[in-house]
Amino acid sequence: MTPRDLRREIAELLGDTTAARWLVETATGIDDWGADGDIEVTERMVAHLDAMVARHRAGEPLQYVLGRWGFRHLDLAVDRRVLIPRPETELVVAAVFDVLDGADHRRVADLGCGSGAIGLAVASELPLEGTSVLMSDVDADALSVARANLAGIGRAARNVTVVLGDWCAPLRDLDPFDVIVSNPPYIALDDPDVEPVVAQYEPAIALFSGSDGLDALRTLAREAPGHLVPGGWLIVEIGTSQGAAVCELFSAAGLVDVSVDIDHGGHDRVVRGRRPSE
Ligand SMILES: C[S@@+](CC[C@H](N)C(=O)[O-])C[C@H]1O[C@@H](n2cnc3c(N)ncnc32)[C@H](O)[C@@H]1O
Repeated sequence: MTPRDLRREIAELLGDTTAARWLVETATGIDDWGADGDIEVTERMVAHLDAMVARHRAGEPLQYVLGRWGFRHLDLAVDRRVLIPRPETELVVAAVFDVLDGADHRRVADLGCGSGAIGLAVASELPLEGTSVLMSDVDADALSVARANLAGIGRAARNVTVVLGDWCAPLRDLDPFDVIVSNPPYIALDDPDVEPVVAQYEPAIALFSGSDGLDALRTLAREAPGHLVPGGWLIVEIGTSQGAAVCELFSAAGLVDVSVDIDHGGHDRVVRGRRPSE
């Protein structure tokens, strides 16, 4: 039996050729199909593959089964302790780079970092000199995953600090930030549209935030501006129907130049606002 045979078999079983390729690559450790597609696989590789396929067929998201997922240029470790990084969150990172364009000091806080997707993308894509990133989460299990991913970004890791804490509490007593960014939980507790697979497998603390989904966003809008430098930015990911409400929260908190970024599906996705310059 070769990796190529296994891929064919699993693709037929799952009806998904891409998932089959990723599962076989993870189980066998091969990534060069030209050189290794026809080697003889071991019993151990087949047992590993069978276990992964069984989990996926039982409904577990492919990302958790593989134990990794891509986010921008990063290959992040993910498991059920953290939200699976979503493609729309890449827009949040793009918004951070947009507001920092040309800045020579870049002090960024990523609150509710989960796997570390936002903070680590920011730390690894900005210049090494003049960048510092604080990543925090209230969930110690999520922080363990973020720390594991931190080890994977190489030299840029020296610019990153990881701390446990509730929203802006870890920022107390620290110098103010140029950007505070967050993809907080923003789904209403009784939202009937949440996909069952999401509710079943992803951590509730990463998804739900009060009766209207806005509890965390209210806290961030209230607390974060006090931790920004004059002219500093608060940038958050939001649910598609929350644009107007979150803009109002930002304006009521004294932020200016408040605007919404639209995602590739044409939906409200990111809100940004600036602390007035003094
Ligand atoms: C939607 S997930 C985002 C994870 C990651 N930033 C991403 O974009 O993939 C929200 C994160 O907020 C964290 N969180 C929830 N309540 C929090 C709180 N009170 N303080 C800090 N983080 C919190 C959750 O543990 C979770 O990791």
